[in-house]
Amino acid sequence: MAAFNSNFVSFFITLSVILHGAESIKYEPNWESIDSRPLPVWYDQGKIGIFLHWGVFSVPSYSSEWFWYHWQGPQPFPSVVNFMKNNYKPDFTYADFAKDFSVQEGIFKPDYWADIFNASGARYIVQVTKHHEGFTSWPSKYSFNWNAMDVGPKRDLVGEVSKAIRKYPNLRYGIYHSLFEWFNPLYLQDRNNSFKTQDFVFDKTLPELYELVNTYKPDVVWSDGCNGPDEYWNSTHFLAWLYNESPVKDTVVTNDRWGNGALCHHGGFLTCHDHYNPGTLQKRKFENAMKLDGRSWGYRRNTALIDVISIESLLQNIAETISCNGNILINVGPTKDGVIAPIYEERLRQMGSWLGINGEAVYKSRPWAFQNDTVTSGIWYTQRKDLKAVYAFLFNWPSGDLTLGAPQVTSETTVTLLGYSVPFKFTSQGQKGIVVHVPEISYNKMPCMWMWVLKITNTAN
Ligand SMILES: *[C@@H]1O[C@H](CO)[C@@H](O)[C@H](O)[C@H]1NC(C)=O
Ligand SMILES: *[C@@H]1O[C@H](CO)[C@@H](O)[C@H](O)[C@H]1NC(C)=O
Ligand SMILES: *[C@@H]1O[C@H](CO)[C@@H](O)[C@H](O)[C@H]1NC(C)=O
Ligand SMILES: *[C@@H]1O[C@H](CO)[C@@H](O)[C@H](O)[C@H]1NC(C)=O
Repeated sequence: MAAFNSNFVSFFITLSVILHGAESIKYEPNWESIDSRPLPVWYDQGKIGIFLHWGVFSVPSYSSEWFWYHWQGPQPFPSVVNFMKNNYKPDFTYADFAKDFSVQEGIFKPDYWADIFNASGARYIVQVTKHHEGFTSWPSKYSFNWNAMDVGPKRDLVGEVSKAIRKYPNLRYGIYHSLFEWFNPLYLQDRNNSFKTQDFVFDKTLPELYELVNTYKPDVVWSDGCNGPDEYWNSTHFLAWLYNESPVKDTVVTNDRWGNGALCHHGGFLTCHDHYNPGTLQKRKFENAMKLDGRSWGYRRNTALIDVISIESLLQNIAETISCNGNILINVGPTKDGVIAPIYEERLRQMGSWLGINGEAVYKSRPWAFQNDTVTSGIWYTQRKDLKAVYAFLFNWPSGDLTLGAPQVTSETTVTLLGYSVPFKFTSQGQKGIVVHVPEISYNKMPCMWMWVLKITNTAN
């Protein structure tokens, strides 16, 4: 009886730890504690996000979203300076662009954006809510006369986009926010004081971040523009609040751009630098932020077709990234009118059609013992332990025999092509892998047009 009682008691203790354990964790405002928080699982399982660069820089839509800085910053780009000289009156200011950030009814259709994003197979969206230009896409109390309600669109672009995205159960909404602003006098003053004063942080950056999180409840807080020490930005204090008390404390993920010393070391997932695609297994979760227009995050009117990433290359980026423990964040820059140009829409829908066949190897996958093949190049791997499967992403269609150096088979092993019903025959090479005998498949029977995925079950490794 006594034994039964003590088991009974310990059962309830265990149960209450399971039910309440998460609540009792309090993160401290230091990196050791902040870094110890596990990422909410939705993020690793989702793998693919879409990045939206949309702001006043979308009005000139020339050069890049760094337009203002490259026009009037300390090291101007001649191309941008000439563009202004040739097309605008001498007294034209960057702020004058805002009135042409038109976003008209009937042209801007956030529900249609959300339809594209859902069809793309992405699982989260990260919208630029304030870039280094300082313009806030939501009616911020802390950005007087330099926000989307006071000038330009005269509407809450963060509210409208987030609302449209949340109608799709597959999609989560996140925000990008730049800590610093190129030309903000308060920031420049703090910087002049070697970041010993924090007026900009307490009057601008932090109030904006609290306002954004409390109002829009984003599941991603993607920080950027961390020019200054993380102590200056008070980052660990903000993150402790985000993880302990904010309305998204259980679901939110963040990145590492929280101060000069934090980048690539601290925070949530690591971004290190743009287009971070290390090609080798990373212990810590990372994100490869990359773009459909290879030359700019913001929309450019003069993008040439050759600047736009091909679907083959985009899918290869996905395979390499997730094989190494990364997520991928794919950028598209909408026009100032609020249109996603058809070439980008096509890329995203192509990705979605591919994921419709091959998503099993992507979502919920984990890196495998090998990231890429040891014999044949252009082959990357993931695994699904729950399905006892290893997946080989083939950049090229193998005609005839395909040697895979990495997988070691068992008597239970099967090899199939995702989206194709007839299993493939293969010959074991023991420790040296397998030779897959790829049959001839007519073009109209191919499950997809780009990057094929082999599913190899019950491997020995
Ligand atoms: C979202 O995308 C999924 C996967 O392609 C599709 O099955 C679903 O019907 C879409 N949802 C809506 C509301 O269109
Ligand atoms: C910062 O310092 C420079 C000189 O080093 C000065 O020209 C500038 O006006 C200062 N800016 C502010 C905002 O204090
Ligand atoms: C900023 O950080 C200091 C410690 O460095 C802390 O005392 C203060 O409460 C923080 N302020 C905010 C608004 O986070
Ligand atoms: C693939 O794996 C091999 C080791 O088997 C390695 O040498 C190579 O650098 C890897 N990466 C690429 C891109 O092939």
